[in-house]
Amino acid sequence: YDSNVVNIVEVGPRDGLQNEKAVIPPSVKAELVTRLGRAGMKTIESGSFVSPKWVPQMAGTPEVLQTMERLPGVRYPVLVPNMKGLDNLFALLDSASPSDVPFTDEIAIFTAATDAFCKANTNCTIAESLERLASVTERAKAKGLRVRGYVSVVVVCPYTGRVDYKKVKDVSRALLDMGCYEVSLGDTVGAGSPWDIRSMLETVMSGAGALPATQLAGHFHDTYGTGVPNILAALELGLRTFDASVAGLGGCPYSPGATGNVATEDVLYALQGSGYKTPGDLDALAEVGGWISGMLGRRNESRAGKAILAR
Ligand code: HMG
Ligand code: MG
Repeated sequence: YDSNVVNIVEVGPRDGLQNEKAVIPPSVKAELVTRLGRAGMKTIESGSFVSPKWVPQMAGTPEVLQTMERLPGVRYPVLVPNMKGLDNLFALLDSASPSDVPFTDEIAIFTAATDAFCKANTNCTIAESLERLASVTERAKAKGLRVRGYVSVVVVCPYTGRVDYKKVKDVSRALLDMGCYEVSLGDTVGAGSPWDIRSMLETVMSGAGALPATQLAGHFHDTYGTGVPNILAALELGLRTFDASVAGLGGCPYSPGATGNVATEDVLYALQGSGYKTPGDLDALAEVGGWISGMLGRRNESRAGKAILAR
C-alpha cells in the first residue's frame, strides 16, 4: 500500500466475459489477457475455476492460463469457489515445469453480504460459504498462493433490497481473519451512490473489528453511472485498489439487470492529473476495449475509451 499509487485490478477477462451471452473461445479470452498485459495492467483476473454448469462462459480457464502471455511482475488471479475448483487449479499448477513463469500465484474467493445472494451465486448460506472458504484459503496458502476475498452486494441485494452495512463489515472481517490479504467490496448491482459508498465504508472501517483502508478494495458495477464517482468517494476514505473492466465489460450472472464493472479507461481518464500513479497506458487500453467490443459484437461501454478511439 502506497497512498500515492492507485492499483487497478483488471477484471474484464473474468467478471466481463463471464456474463457474455455468446460463447467465447478460450483463444479470444487468452488474447484479451495478453493484450491487457501488453497495455500495462499489473493485475489481470484471468478466469474462474467454477462449475461450468453454473457459469459456462468460464469453462476452459486452464487453457486460457496455458496459452495467454504471462509477463513477469504481472499477477493473474483466478476465482475459486470450493475445493473442487482448487483441485482443478492445483492440477494445472502441478503440470507446469518449474522453470516456467507460474500460471498464477493468487486466487480470489467470494461470498456475499446476504444469504439470498450467496445462495443464488454459490448454492449455500453465508455461514456455510465462510466455512467452505476457510478450508480453501488454508490449503491455497499452504501451496504459496495469495488469497483475495470478495464480498458481493455491499449496498443493495437484487433479492432483498438495501443491505445492512454491519453485515458487510462482519463478513469482510471473517475473510481477513481466515487469511485473505485484501477484501474487495462489490456493489454487484451497481446501484450505490457515492454517499452510499461513503456510509458503507464508514461502517466497515470503524468500531470493533474495523477493517483498515489498506486491506480494502472497491468493486463497483456501473449500472447507474456512479462507478467513477464511487471510486473518488472511496479514495477520499483511503482506499487505493479498485477493480475495473476494460470497455466496461460484464455483469454478474446472478444479478439480473446489473451491467458491467466501471470501465478501466474511464477510471484512468478520471485519475489523470490527480497526482496518483496508475498502471496501464490509456490509449493502448482504449484500443484493447475497442478490439474486445468488436470481437463480442457488443457496444463499447467506456465513455473515455470511445472518445479516445474517435480522436
Ligand atoms: P453446487 O451445485 O452446489 O456444487 O454448486 P456441488 O458441490 O453440489 O457439485 C455439483 C456438480 O458440480 C458436481 O458435478 C461437481 O463435481 C461439480 P456432477 O457430479 O453433477 O457431474 N462442481 C464443479 N465443477 C467444476 N469446478 C468446480 C465445481 N464445483 C462443483 N469448482 C458451486 C456450488 C460453488 C460450485 C457453484 O454454485 C458455482 O460454481 N458457483 C459460481 C458462480 C459464479 O461463478 N458466479 C460469478 C462469480 S462471483 C461474481 O461475479 C461477483 C464478483 O464479481 C463481485 C461482485 O460483483 O459482487 C466477484
Ligand atoms: Mg462483479
